[in-house]
Amino acid sequence: MAITKNVLTQTALTTTSLRFCGQAGALALVALLASPLAWSHGDVTPQPVDIKGLELLGDEWLAENPYREDHPQHELAVDIGARAYNSNCAACHGLEAKSGGIAPDLRELENGAWGDEWYKELVTNGAERNGRVLMPRMSDYVSQEGLWAIRAWLETVSMETTQGQ
Ligand code: HEC
Repeated sequence: MAITKNVLTQTALTTTSLRFCGQAGALALVALLASPLAWSHGDVTPQPVDIKGLELLGDEWLAENPYREDHPQHELAVDIGARAYNSNCAACHGLEAKSGGIAPDLRELENGAWGDEWYKELVTNGAERNGRVLMPRMSDYVSQEGLWAIRAWLETVSMETTQGQ
Protein backbone atom coordinates (compact mmCIF):
# COMPACT_ATOMS: atom_id res chain seq x y z
CA MET A 1 0.00 0.00 0.00
CA ALA A 2 1.24 3.39 -1.01
CA ILE A 3 0.73 4.98 2.40
CA THR A 4 2.64 2.32 4.29
CA LYS A 5 5.46 2.44 1.77
CA ASN A 6 5.60 6.20 2.11
CA VAL A 7 5.86 6.04 5.88
CA LEU A 8 8.63 3.45 5.68
CA THR A 9 10.60 5.53 3.20
CA GLN A 10 10.22 8.55 5.41
CA THR A 11 11.46 6.74 8.49
CA ALA A 12 14.48 5.39 6.67
CA LEU A 13 15.23 8.82 5.28
CA THR A 14 14.94 10.46 8.67
CA THR A 15 17.36 8.09 10.34
CA THR A 16 20.00 8.37 7.64
CA SER A 17 19.69 12.11 7.34
CA LEU A 18 20.00 12.65 11.08
CA ARG A 19 23.58 11.48 10.92
CA PHE A 20 24.47 14.09 8.34
CA CYS A 21 22.62 17.18 9.48
CA GLY A 22 23.25 19.39 12.46
CA GLN A 23 20.51 19.49 15.05
CA ALA A 24 18.68 22.42 13.49
CA GLY A 25 18.85 20.82 10.07
CA ALA A 26 17.61 17.54 11.44
CA LEU A 27 14.68 19.20 13.17
CA ALA A 28 13.73 21.09 10.02
CA LEU A 29 13.95 17.87 8.08
CA VAL A 30 11.78 16.00 10.56
CA ALA A 31 9.19 18.76 10.34
CA LEU A 32 9.26 18.56 6.56
CA LEU A 33 8.99 14.79 6.55
CA ALA A 34 6.10 14.83 8.98
CA SER A 35 4.10 17.10 6.67
CA PRO A 36 2.17 15.97 3.61
CA LEU A 37 5.08 17.25 1.52
CA ALA A 38 6.95 14.11 2.24
CA TRP A 39 6.54 11.87 -0.71
CA SER A 40 9.29 10.32 -2.63
CA HIS A 41 9.70 10.67 -6.36
CA GLY A 42 6.80 9.31 -8.34
CA ASP A 43 4.95 8.31 -5.20
CA VAL A 44 2.10 10.75 -4.95
CA THR A 45 -0.21 11.21 -2.02
CA PRO A 46 -3.15 13.14 -3.43
CA GLN A 47 -4.08 16.17 -1.38
CA PRO A 48 -7.57 17.51 -1.78
CA VAL A 49 -7.67 21.13 -2.89
CA ASP A 50 -10.52 23.21 -1.53
CA ILE A 51 -11.60 25.34 -4.48
CA LYS A 52 -14.66 26.82 -2.78
CA GLY A 53 -15.59 30.16 -4.30
CA LEU A 54 -13.72 29.66 -7.57
CA GLU A 55 -15.57 29.70 -10.87
CA LEU A 56 -15.94 26.08 -12.00
CA LEU A 57 -14.38 25.21 -15.36
CA GLY A 58 -15.89 21.88 -16.39
CA ASP A 59 -14.09 18.78 -17.62
CA GLU A 60 -12.59 20.18 -20.79
CA TRP A 61 -9.13 21.66 -20.22
CA LEU A 62 -8.78 25.32 -21.15
CA ALA A 63 -5.72 26.41 -23.11
CA GLU A 64 -5.02 29.39 -20.87
CA ASN A 65 -5.28 30.23 -17.22
CA PRO A 66 -8.75 31.70 -16.66
CA TYR A 67 -7.83 33.14 -13.24
CA ARG A 68 -5.41 35.82 -14.45
CA GLU A 69 -5.26 39.36 -12.99
CA ASP A 70 -8.38 40.42 -14.86
CA HIS A 71 -10.48 37.59 -13.40
CA PRO A 72 -12.71 38.68 -10.48
CA GLN A 73 -11.47 35.73 -8.42
CA HIS A 74 -7.79 36.22 -9.18
CA GLU A 75 -6.82 36.93 -5.55
CA LEU A 76 -8.75 33.95 -4.26
CA ALA A 77 -7.12 31.76 -6.91
CA VAL A 78 -3.65 32.92 -5.84
CA ASP A 79 -4.44 32.07 -2.20
CA ILE A 80 -5.81 28.66 -3.05
CA GLY A 81 -2.94 28.07 -5.45
CA ALA A 82 -0.28 28.82 -2.84
CA ARG A 83 -1.73 26.22 -0.50
CA ALA A 84 -2.36 23.68 -3.22
CA TYR A 85 1.20 24.09 -4.47
CA ASN A 86 2.59 23.37 -1.00
CA SER A 87 0.65 20.17 -0.60
CA ASN A 88 0.96 18.84 -4.15
CA CYS A 89 4.09 20.16 -5.84
CA ALA A 90 6.54 21.48 -3.25
CA ALA A 91 7.91 18.06 -2.33
CA CYS A 92 9.56 17.89 -5.74
CA HIS A 93 9.64 21.50 -6.93
CA GLY A 94 10.66 23.05 -3.62
CA LEU A 95 9.05 25.32 -1.04
CA GLU A 96 7.97 28.66 -2.52
CA ALA A 97 8.77 27.15 -5.92
CA LYS A 98 12.50 27.45 -5.22
CA SER A 99 13.78 24.19 -6.57
CA GLY A 100 16.20 22.22 -4.44
CA GLY A 101 17.43 20.54 -7.59
CA ILE A 102 15.13 17.50 -7.80
CA ALA A 103 12.80 19.12 -10.33
CA PRO A 104 12.85 22.34 -12.39
CA ASP A 105 12.47 25.70 -10.65
CA LEU A 106 8.93 26.73 -11.52
CA ARG A 107 9.71 30.42 -10.97
CA GLU A 108 11.45 30.18 -14.31
CA LEU A 109 8.31 29.26 -16.22
CA GLU A 110 7.31 31.91 -18.69
CA ASN A 111 4.35 34.07 -17.71
CA GLY A 112 1.35 34.42 -20.02
CA ALA A 113 -0.23 32.23 -22.66
CA TRP A 114 2.92 30.44 -23.81
CA GLY A 115 3.82 29.44 -20.26
CA ASP A 116 0.22 28.34 -19.70
CA GLU A 117 0.38 25.97 -22.63
CA TRP A 118 3.58 24.33 -21.37
CA TYR A 119 2.20 24.20 -17.83
CA LYS A 120 -1.00 22.51 -19.01
CA GLU A 121 1.02 20.04 -21.09
CA LEU A 122 3.08 18.98 -18.08
CA VAL A 123 0.34 18.80 -15.45
CA THR A 124 -2.05 16.86 -17.70
CA ASN A 125 0.56 14.44 -19.07
CA GLY A 126 3.20 14.25 -16.38
CA ALA A 127 6.77 13.47 -17.36
CA GLU A 128 8.39 10.14 -17.98
CA ARG A 129 11.84 9.12 -19.09
CA ASN A 130 12.94 5.59 -20.00
CA GLY A 131 9.78 4.24 -18.45
CA ARG A 132 10.44 6.04 -15.16
CA VAL A 133 7.81 8.47 -13.93
CA LEU A 134 9.56 11.73 -13.12
CA MET A 135 6.35 13.59 -12.49
CA PRO A 136 2.94 11.95 -12.19
CA ARG A 137 0.01 13.24 -14.20
CA MET A 138 -1.07 15.79 -11.62
CA SER A 139 -4.50 16.23 -13.21
CA ASP A 140 -5.33 12.75 -11.88
CA TYR A 141 -5.05 14.17 -8.37
CA VAL A 142 -5.86 17.86 -8.54
CA SER A 143 -8.82 19.45 -10.32
CA GLN A 144 -8.42 21.77 -13.28
CA GLU A 145 -9.51 24.64 -11.00
CA GLY A 146 -6.85 23.71 -8.44
CA LEU A 147 -4.14 23.43 -11.07
CA TRP A 148 -4.91 26.81 -12.69
CA ALA A 149 -5.01 28.32 -9.21
CA ILE A 150 -1.49 26.98 -8.67
CA ARG A 151 -0.46 28.52 -11.96
CA ALA A 152 -1.97 31.87 -10.86
CA TRP A 153 0.15 31.72 -7.70
CA LEU A 154 3.25 30.65 -9.63
CA GLU A 155 3.02 33.79 -11.75
CA THR A 156 3.16 35.90 -8.58
CA VAL A 157 6.51 34.36 -7.61
CA SER A 158 7.85 34.03 -11.15
CA MET A 159 11.27 35.52 -11.83
CA GLU A 160 9.73 37.65 -14.56
CA THR A 161 7.22 39.07 -12.06
CA THR A 162 9.58 39.57 -9.15
CA GLN A 163 12.27 41.19 -11.30
CA GLY A 164 9.66 43.49 -12.77
CA GLN A 165 10.40 42.72 -16.40
C1 HEC B 1 7.17 13.46 -7.94
C2 HEC B 1 7.82 14.74 -8.18
C3 HEC B 1 6.97 15.82 -8.81
C4 HEC B 1 5.76 16.32 -8.40
C5 HEC B 1 4.93 15.87 -7.23
C6 HEC B 1 5.44 17.39 -9.31
N1 HEC B 1 6.43 17.52 -10.25
FE1 HEC B 1 6.44 18.83 -11.78
N2 HEC B 1 8.16 18.00 -12.50
C7 HEC B 1 8.89 17.03 -11.86
C8 HEC B 1 10.08 16.73 -12.65
C9 HEC B 1 11.16 15.72 -12.29
C10 HEC B 1 10.03 17.55 -13.80
C11 HEC B 1 11.01 17.58 -14.97
C12 HEC B 1 10.53 16.60 -16.00
C13 HEC B 1 11.50 16.43 -17.14
O1 HEC B 1 12.68 16.74 -16.99
O2 HEC B 1 11.04 15.93 -18.19
C14 HEC B 1 8.81 18.36 -13.66
C15 HEC B 1 8.42 19.33 -14.56
C16 HEC B 1 7.35 20.20 -14.37
C17 HEC B 1 7.02 21.31 -15.24
C18 HEC B 1 7.82 21.75 -16.47
C19 HEC B 1 8.90 22.69 -15.98
C20 HEC B 1 9.84 23.17 -17.06
O3 HEC B 1 10.66 24.05 -16.72
O4 HEC B 1 9.79 22.69 -18.17
C21 HEC B 1 5.92 21.91 -14.72
C22 HEC B 1 5.19 23.11 -15.28
C23 HEC B 1 5.56 21.19 -13.52
N3 HEC B 1 6.46 20.15 -13.34
C24 HEC B 1 4.50 21.52 -12.70
C25 HEC B 1 4.14 20.80 -11.56
C26 HEC B 1 3.03 21.16 -10.70
C27 HEC B 1 2.14 22.37 -10.91
C28 HEC B 1 2.97 20.21 -9.74
C29 HEC B 1 1.95 20.10 -8.63
C30 HEC B 1 0.56 20.18 -8.99
C31 HEC B 1 4.06 19.28 -9.97
N4 HEC B 1 4.74 19.67 -11.07
C32 HEC B 1 4.30 18.16 -9.19
C33 HEC B 1 8.57 16.40 -10.67
C34 HEC B 1 7.39 16.59 -9.98
